[in-house]
Amino acid sequence: MASPSELRTPQAVTSALIVKGALANVLGFPIGGTTIGTHYSEGHRVRLTVQIGQAPDPTETQFIQVAETINTILAANQPVHVFKLARHQAQTSYKNAMYNRHAVPESVTELTIAYIEKIAFSCTAEAVVASTGMVGAITINKTKFRSAKKELEIQYTVSTPSESGPAVLAVTKENDETLPSSEAISLLNSDTVRQASGGEGNEKRGNGGNIGSASGEGGQVVTPWEVEGDQEIDYDKLIKSFGSMRITESLVSRIERLTNRKCHRFLRRGLFFSHRDLTQLLDLYEKGTKFYLYTGRGPSSESLHLGHLIPFHFTRYLQEAFDVPLVIQLTDDEKFQFKQGLALEECHRLAYENAKDVIACGFDVKKTFIFSDLDYIQYLYPTVLKIQKLVTFNQARGIFGFTESDSCGKIAFPAVQAAPSFPSSFPVPLKGCLDMPCLIPCAIDQDAYFRMTRDVAPRLGCKKPSLIHSKFFPGLEGKGGKMSASAEQSAIYVTDTGKKIKTKISRAFSGGQETAELQKELGADLEVDVAYQYLTFFSEDDDELETIGKEYKAGRMMTGQVKGRLIELLTAMVKEHQDRRATVGDEILREFMRVRELEF
Ligand code: TYM
Repeated sequence: MASPSELRTPQAVTSALIVKGALANVLGFPIGGTTIGTHYSEGHRVRLTVQIGQAPDPTETQFIQVAETINTILAANQPVHVFKLARHQAQTSYKNAMYNRHAVPESVTELTIAYIEKIAFSCTAEAVVASTGMVGAITINKTKFRSAKKELEIQYTVSTPSESGPAVLAVTKENDETLPSSEAISLLNSDTVRQASGGEGNEKRGNGGNIGSASGEGGQVVTPWEVEGDQEIDYDKLIKSFGSMRITESLVSRIERLTNRKCHRFLRRGLFFSHRDLTQLLDLYEKGTKFYLYTGRGPSSESLHLGHLIPFHFTRYLQEAFDVPLVIQLTDDEKFQFKQGLALEECHRLAYENAKDVIACGFDVKKTFIFSDLDYIQYLYPTVLKIQKLVTFNQARGIFGFTESDSCGKIAFPAVQAAPSFPSSFPVPLKGCLDMPCLIPCAIDQDAYFRMTRDVAPRLGCKKPSLIHSKFFPGLEGKGGKMSASAEQSAIYVTDTGKKIKTKISRAFSGGQETAELQKELGADLEVDVAYQYLTFFSEDDDELETIGKEYKAGRMMTGQVKGRLIELLTAMVKEHQDRRATVGDEILREFMRVRELEF
């Protein structure tokens, strides 16, 4: 049994502010002095009792509006502010708006007040989350109106996805810079029906990914559709807000021991930096349980760019090192739903084009099955349906930031990317081994899909898939983003000629100084230098990389020299890729994409 204080989680406490605010908005009663009590019980259930002026509409339409208002507030992911304020100052500015029915003892001279614009303004003794989207979903179970006392009791359940990571708490501010105006609170404390603000967040894709994104202070957004930041991506912050685990040196050593070979440079250099349940997967592997690998590509462009090679090169290493089967999903359906101006037939064609690039990364045909969703959906569909049944619109909105104006196709899609995480999707390739654990290598932008997947897994009676996440290979302009097919100018494609690569690298963002003299004096900033960053991804030679880093940083090497070395390396690597791709004829392609038993 959880103690009362354990039941008052920041999400639950914030939910009460939101539900009260939605009720006050729709039914039109003042927020001050109207909360009679809040009771938290097991199963994330909350019972809130408020004093309302008049009986609610007996047709229940008002409660439909309340539910809609709650959802709007959750989806808007509005900030929750917490202020510390001298009691006399609070009373002068805001009268009694922050109090509930239970008096705050006279001895308290400083109040802690939680504030959500147009929704809530209330003294709080408990921690609250930093924004409304972090609460998860709220489902109203029951309402009861006691007409004699004009008391309304509302019972509801809060479901915060268990994969959303630890709660990010609102920061308590001591200064009054952002205090709301007394007029704003007076309006909130009136008995008029008000319009809860959806806020601009309502339409923001990245913001809606409140759980899926780390947005806010540092200005970074990381979702499957958008990676953006004012500055360098803060990967520590992502680990915290996504609730994943850092890959430690000892985990890297363990992989080396288990596979009996030196780890891939991506692991040695911390470029694959985060994981979920990798340790458990390795425990099973050590006891003789083979896992399968699952990764994918959304075919939105004719060919892959260098960023896409990161998970595929790494997956190839994993396949070889652990000697395990691999499935690769080509989400032509996803690209059709999410990308404007792409015909379905074109997405399907691009899937086949991209498959050739994927094959050119060197996978073992006997152990690898590549499929287009359009072709393979009949095998996925039973698992897709079971997943879809377990995820409410509210949850999908909480994880991915969908809004009412998103198509049903988008909302239904995440289950399609989730399904291959379960062996039931591969009755033939995995030969009916329904208990096989799954490991998913990907860049961290895809994590939202798999938080949802891991959340439903136990309810499907399945193992949660494990994940291993990479950092982003940056675009040519550097800073705060990733190489992306939607920013064509920032990308180097595996189809680029040597000449094109040279031109692109020559104009890549440099952390070196403007003149040779300054460079000698000040040296380069390696963190932001695109050429150096690219070398950390693609140069196999640890010693050479270390020397270049040392010399360039100290100003003994010029930007031109570093770029020159990179051009040489990339030209050879891309040429090798192109040569391998040229050997991928229709027959090889068909074999990789044929539904057949894999060897393991
Ligand atoms: P897509 O096509 O956007 O990307 C394919 C894979 O490449 C990774 N990636 C990057 N990695 C490092 N640096 C970059 N700049 C960079 N850009 C993209 C992505 O994280 C991804 O691993 N919905 C997915 C397709 C998919 C999938 C999967 C991916 C379906 N099932 C399972 C991973 C695992 C997509 O559109 O990926």
